[in-house]
Amino acid sequence: MLTLKDLSVTIGKKEILKKINFTFEEGKIYAVMGPNGSGKSTLAYSIMGHPGYKANGKSKMTFKGHNILELEANKRAEEGIFLSFQNPLSLAGVRVYQFLQLAMKGKKDAFAIRKEVQKYAKELKISEDLLGRSLNEGASGGEKKKMEVLQAAVLDKSLIIFDEVDTGVDVDSLKTIAKFLESHRKNKTYIIITHYNRILHYLKPDKVLVIADGELKKVGDHTLANEIEKSGYEKIINSQN
Ligand SMILES: Nc1ncnc2c1ncn2[C@@H]1O[C@H](COP(=O)(O)OP(=O)(O)OP(=O)(O)O)[C@@H](O)[C@H]1O
Ligand SMILES: [Mg+2]
Repeated sequence: MLTLKDLSVTIGKKEILKKINFTFEEGKIYAVMGPNGSGKSTLAYSIMGHPGYKANGKSKMTFKGHNILELEANKRAEEGIFLSFQNPLSLAGVRVYQFLQLAMKGKKDAFAIRKEVQKYAKELKISEDLLGRSLNEGASGGEKKKMEVLQAAVLDKSLIIFDEVDTGVDVDSLKTIAKFLESHRKNKTYIIITHYNRILHYLKPDKVLVIADGELKKVGDHTLANEIEKSGYEKIINSQN
C-alpha cells in the first residue's frame, strides 16, 4: 500500500535518509528499529509529509497506487495516513473531544465521536479527568502516548505510524496499548518504530526493518528483534543482507 523508491531525504542541507526502498503491504505490522539518530523519526515525518523534510528528485513515494510525495501533510492524512508523535504536543485550550470533532468534521457527528472516545478511553484505561482537560495538558509521558493511540483509533486511518509509542510507558500500560492495537488492527497497517522488543511480544510484526545511518540495512522476521535485543545492532548492521 505504501511504496518507497530510492527515498532520500534532507533536512536543511543534511542528507538524513539515503535511498530507502521498501513496500509496506496492507494489513501487516512492521517494526522499524535502529540506533538513536539513525533516521527512524525522519522516515515517519517524511511519510507524513513534514514540510521541513525534502525528498530529493529521484525519490518516489506511492500510497494506494498514487504518488503522494507532492502532497501536503493534511492531504496525506486525508488519504489515510496517521502519525503518532515520539513527543506528543499539548494543545492548551483545546479538549480532545473538540480536537477530534474538528478533525472528523463532516465524517461523524459530535455525539458519535464522544461515544467512541469514551469507549476507546475505557479500553485504554484513560481517565475521565484526562479527557476533560486540554489536550495533553499536564499529562504524564505515558498518558500522552495513550492519548495518541486514542486519536489514531478515532481518526481510523489505514496506515498508522507509531513513533516510539512504547517509550516511557509502564509495563501494564504497554500491555494495554499493545492489546488495544492488536484488537483494532482490522484493515490497518501499522508501522511501529521502537527501541524495544517488549511491545513486539504482544504485537507480532510481520517484518522488522533495521535503519542505521539513514539506510535500510536489514529486513527480517520477528526474530530479528530478539537478535537485536540480545546482541545489539553492530553485528546486524555490518553483516550483509
Ligand atoms: N531539524 C533537524 N536539523 C538537522 N538535523 C536533524 C534535524 N532533525 C533531525 N536531524 C538529524 O537527523 C538524524 C536522524 O534523526 P531522527 O530523529 O530521524 O533519528 P531517530 O532514528 O528517530 O532517533 P531516536 O531513536 O533517537 O528517536 C539525526 O542525526 C538528527 O540529529
Ligand atoms: Mg526518533
